[in-house]
Amino acid sequence: MKQTVKLIVGNWKMNGLAADLAGAVAEMLADLKATPASARAGLCPPATLIERMVRAIDGGPIAVGGQDCRVETKGAFTGGVSAGMLVDAGATMVILGHSERRQEFGESDALVSDKVGAALQAGLMPIICVGETLAQREAGEAAAIVRGQILGSLHDGLTGQDWALAYEPVWAIGTGLTPTLDQIAEIHAAARDAMIERLGDGGRTAPILYGGSVNPGNARDILALDEVGGALVGGASLKAADFLAIIRAA
Ligand code: 13P
Repeated sequence: MKQTVKLIVGNWKMNGLAADLAGAVAEMLADLKATPASARAGLCPPATLIERMVRAIDGGPIAVGGQDCRVETKGAFTGGVSAGMLVDAGATMVILGHSERRQEFGESDALVSDKVGAALQAGLMPIICVGETLAQREAGEAAAIVRGQILGSLHDGLTGQDWALAYEPVWAIGTGLTPTLDQIAEIHAAARDAMIERLGDGGRTAPILYGGSVNPGNARDILALDEVGGALVGGASLKAADFLAIIRAA
């Protein structure tokens, strides 16, 4: 399905200090206010910056999100942040099941699904990440891995909600490598089939973002693909000029 309004979300990962609000974010905001973009834009900074970023954006055309949340609403979980806390800080979206969390923290599909439920309960828009490793791609398993992750990580409650899937091949993250346009189109089509297999009609409309070394040079071609509903951008979202160029390419 061709999606006309694309969603471009920046994942700052463990980067960003207050100075970046006066710098990169102020620059992005001024540009988007002067010339409104045709795409929806979001930024997911570290939890420490969410509230200040919301204040800095002050109702402007950039949504703010978290990068993870716990399943529980509160309690003895040192270091944890709940979905309700993200909402309390002003977030409207949350990235869940990012490959860095799946790898570093051993997050399973079942846990990601439970987190999706918690995010929906709190009123957040979940952005659910899936993607194969290089070994899995070389073994010809990319589509099957992505299908399995989708079947396991989605949640019954997604039907009728605002949510997005993000296809991020692990080997393309932070490497400067990207799949070919044909490979992206193939996995996005397989992802759509799996979303419908899991949710029925509820899987038809959520955008499928592509993530992994998106930059101003490759964004336009990737975003022009039929089943690419937007982008999840890491490194390039830290630089105002690059992130703006990607938003403008959508
Ligand atoms: P890069 O754009 O830096 O490759 O990161 C992609 C990513 O992991 C976004 O979630």
